[in-house]
Amino acid sequence: MGKRWVSVFCACRPLMLHALPLVFVMLLCSNFSQCVDLDPEDKTSLFLFKSRVQDPSRSLSSWVGSNCSNWTGTFCENQTGRVISINLTNMNLSGQIHPSLCKFPFLEELVLSENNFTTPIPGCFGNLQSLKTLNLSHNRFHGVVPDSLMRLRQLRELVLNGNRDLGGLVPWWVGNFSTKLEKLDMGFNSFRGEIPERLLYLESLKHLDLGNNYLSGGLSDFHQALVYLNLESNQFSGTLPCFSASAQSLTVLNVANNSIVGGIPTCIASLQALTHLNLSFNHLTYKIPPRLVFTEKLLVLDFSNNDLSGPLPSKIAVTTEKSGLLLLDLSHNRFSGEIPLKITELKSLQALFLSHNLLVGEIPARIGNLTYLQVIDLSHNLLSGSIPLNIVGCFQLLALIVNNNNLSGEIQPELDALDSLKILDISNNMISGEIPLTLAGCKSLEIVDLSSNNLSGTLNDAITKWSNLRYLSLARNKFNGNLPSWLFTFEEMQLMDFSGNKFSGFIPDGNFNVSRNFNNGGGTGKMLKEPIVPMQNLDTQISIIVAGSSELRFSYILSSMVGIDLSYNSLDGEIPGGFFGLQGLEYLNLSYNVLHGQVLSLEKMRSLRVLDLSHNSFSGQVPGNISRLQDLTILNLSFNGFSGFVPEKQGYGRFPGAFAGNPNLCVESSGEGCDSESLPVEPGKAFEEENVEGPISVWLYCLSTSITFYFGVVALFCSARSRNYILQTKV
Ligand SMILES: *[C@@H]1O[C@H](CO)[C@@H](O)[C@H](O)[C@H]1NC(C)=O
Ligand SMILES: *[C@@H]1O[C@H](CO)[C@@H](O)[C@H](O)[C@H]1NC(C)=O
Ligand SMILES: *[C@@H]1O[C@H](CO)[C@@H](O)[C@H](O)[C@H]1NC(C)=O
Ligand SMILES: *[C@@H]1O[C@H](CO)[C@@H](O)[C@H](O)[C@H]1NC(C)=O
Ligand SMILES: *[C@@H]1O[C@H](CO)[C@@H](O)[C@H](O)[C@H]1NC(C)=O
Ligand SMILES: *[C@@H]1O[C@H](CO)[C@@H](O)[C@H](O)[C@H]1NC(C)=O
Ligand SMILES: *[C@@H]1O[C@H](CO)[C@@H](O)[C@H](O)[C@H]1NC(C)=O
Ligand SMILES: *[C@@H]1O[C@H](CO)[C@@H](O)[C@H](O)[C@H]1NC(C)=O
Ligand SMILES: *[C@@H]1O[C@H](CO)[C@@H](O)[C@H](O)[C@H]1NC(C)=O
Ligand SMILES: *[C@@H]1O[C@H](CO)[C@@H](O)[C@H](O)[C@H]1NC(C)=O
Ligand SMILES: *[C@@H]1O[C@H](CO)[C@@H](O)[C@H](O)[C@H]1NC(C)=O
Ligand SMILES: *[C@@H]1O[C@H](CO)[C@@H](O)[C@H](O)[C@H]1NC(C)=O
Repeated sequence: MGKRWVSVFCACRPLMLHALPLVFVMLLCSNFSQCVDLDPEDKTSLFLFKSRVQDPSRSLSSWVGSNCSNWTGTFCENQTGRVISINLTNMNLSGQIHPSLCKFPFLEELVLSENNFTTPIPGCFGNLQSLKTLNLSHNRFHGVVPDSLMRLRQLRELVLNGNRDLGGLVPWWVGNFSTKLEKLDMGFNSFRGEIPERLLYLESLKHLDLGNNYLSGGLSDFHQALVYLNLESNQFSGTLPCFSASAQSLTVLNVANNSIVGGIPTCIASLQALTHLNLSFNHLTYKIPPRLVFTEKLLVLDFSNNDLSGPLPSKIAVTTEKSGLLLLDLSHNRFSGEIPLKITELKSLQALFLSHNLLVGEIPARIGNLTYLQVIDLSHNLLSGSIPLNIVGCFQLLALIVNNNNLSGEIQPELDALDSLKILDISNNMISGEIPLTLAGCKSLEIVDLSSNNLSGTLNDAITKWSNLRYLSLARNKFNGNLPSWLFTFEEMQLMDFSGNKFSGFIPDGNFNVSRNFNNGGGTGKMLKEPIVPMQNLDTQISIIVAGSSELRFSYILSSMVGIDLSYNSLDGEIPGGFFGLQGLEYLNLSYNVLHGQVLSLEKMRSLRVLDLSHNSFSGQVPGNISRLQDLTILNLSFNGFSGFVPEKQGYGRFPGAFAGNPNLCVESSGEGCDSESLPVEPGKAFEEENVEGPISVWLYCLSTSITFYFGVVALFCSARSRNYILQTKV
């Protein structure tokens, strides 16, 4: 009280000493809250603090003079001029914290979040007796939490999250140092040990975040009315408590990614205010009890990645017109039986994940009633029947993922109504027929995986309309005909896999400069250090953010190499020259075709990691020096007609098996094929000799047998498309 009086007196002194205009100013000023001068003691302390801080962005450059409102991030009490709040969030500050920062007796808020402070938490913070909020999140504070902080008896918020090297045991006093503590956030640190018992009883506590630490011990029940509880990604064990003290208050409960065992207790559904429940990545077992029905307040329910079994719950949440579940994730469990029809009554559902279970039966046609649905993942089950036509009712659909089931039938032309669709994955089913031309309407498509089905027909122009395409796999189907000239004209394309079909003719030339990724978009640098994944495994990770109270936001990560796979077809001709300039290409597989000609220099293809040209009829010398292709880990040129000499110093020594089945090739490192005569032979000669067998002779055969017929039929007969024509005319 005394101090306050003194400073009021100080503020008045100029009134008596100075002339009238100033009196007027000061009177005017007393109406504004920020007119008072910064207390000189506090000013000195701030200057000292500033002197030790590194401030490359010059965020504190306004810290001059005595006008409090000019001091960025500080707030003064409007009559005394004492600093009551220091909020320096996100100012790119780093360096040391001068002990002068602990000399603000009236400071109520200290926020240093989102900077780069790399010191231990100063123990003298315990002197800041008036502190109500201490927020040090997202820095690089390290060490332990000093015990002196337990003197902060007025503290309401203690936020330490996002300091990876801050750890040790959770301070034993944290549950009973301030009876006013409402928010304790220590997530994304390195705390270990158990939750101190007293914390379970701290009545004032509402918001507790201990997620992403190394905490362990049985999960105990909390005895206060919590609003927010996050214990995600720790090592908590035991069974799930009921949280009954929070029955009316708890809105977010996240205990995902721990080692929780046992069943899901029905009492969890009595949490009346719950909006988010995440129990994923635990070891929960048994059936979901039929009486587990959540209120209409629940927005997000994630039980994925457990060992839950039995039938899918037929009713998991109450739905009303206005509200209801947005996201339901029951994937990666052992649920069996059919998809219950009741699920289609969750009208507000935006994302449904049922993948990696043992579900049988058909996809319910009424799924089309879920008009807000944006992501549906039913993959890796045993579902049969066809994709119901009614699914076009989900007109906002962004991702339709039904791969690895037993689905049959054709792709319906009406699916063109799904014009928002970005991801279509129907791979590994038994779907037949052709790609309907109408699918040109799905112009938002970015990822299309139709691989391992029974699809047939030629590549129609529908695909050209998918101008945002990043991944296209038609592998292991029965597609035939020529590869269209627009094949390489997709700007965003990352991977095309056409392997294991019956495509014939030439590889189209030209337009190789269109795709940014093939031409070194450089966007996939992160892949470089990862092991080579088999091309069959498309990996899209969909991540979801709950935005607002009735909206989800989706994004996905596509991890695949930048590549082209045309293997196991009947392509002939030479490799178009443009291929050899693709600096971004990581994967190129042209094996098992009937390609011929020379393979030019690979030197420009600096991103190459896998090159398979085996089982073709390439000839001439192997491509020149590859020692600069440092990422190349798989090279297969076997079973071709290469000839000549492969010197060891050109970098081929790394790939001992790469040249098998090229009888005229002399590989220096192995000595194979380097017989006394064959070594000096000119490459061209060997090429001519090799020519007698191989696919080209098939062509000759085709010509010679048909010479007895007239020429027109011959030409037709030798291309795949003509066979249909001949059959038709015969009938
Ligand atoms: C000083 O601040 C308090 C609360 O911050 C406010 O209620 C009061 O009106 C302010 N006084 C003046 C003179 O601005
Ligand atoms: C202090 O600065 C603020 C904003 O910069 C200004 O509105 C106010 O008049 C200044 N007060 C004095 C006493 O200079
Ligand atoms: C933050 O500071 C670093 C140097 O410490 C500087 O390189 C960087 O550009 C700064 N960032 C911003 C957003 O000012
Ligand atoms: C306060 O800041 C304003 C600009 O924000 C500046 O014009 C003024 O000169 C500053 N006052 C003092 C006393 O530094
Ligand atoms: C600190 O300042 C930021 C913006 O500069 C604001 O968003 C935040 O709410 C403030 N925090 C406190 C505790 O006053
Ligand atoms: C921390 O410093 C690094 C450089 O040292 C900078 O890139 C980064 O933006 C800084 N972070 C913050 C939150 O200022
Ligand atoms: C303080 O901490 C919380 C973390 O709980 C954070 O969300 C908030 O934005 C932080 N920063 C400020 C300036 O209040
Ligand atoms: C906190 O609780 C422990 C026992 O659990 C007790 O020894 C200690 O005195 C308490 N401290 C405060 C400040 O209440
Ligand atoms: C689970 O937690 C571990 C650390 O305990 C972390 O490495 C892992 O990424 C987390 N998994 C998920 C799915 O968040
Ligand atoms: C649930 O927690 C897991 C593990 O931390 C996380 O990967 C997942 O995104 C969370 N689910 C939702 C819907 O937020
Ligand atoms: C749900 O779908 C069924 C069959 O598709 C249909 O008969 C019914 O009218 C739909 N209900 C609503 C509310 O749209
Ligand atoms: C897949 O579906 C076919 C009929 O379309 C059926 O004969 C077969 O048994 C099913 N396979 C499995 C594993 O369900």
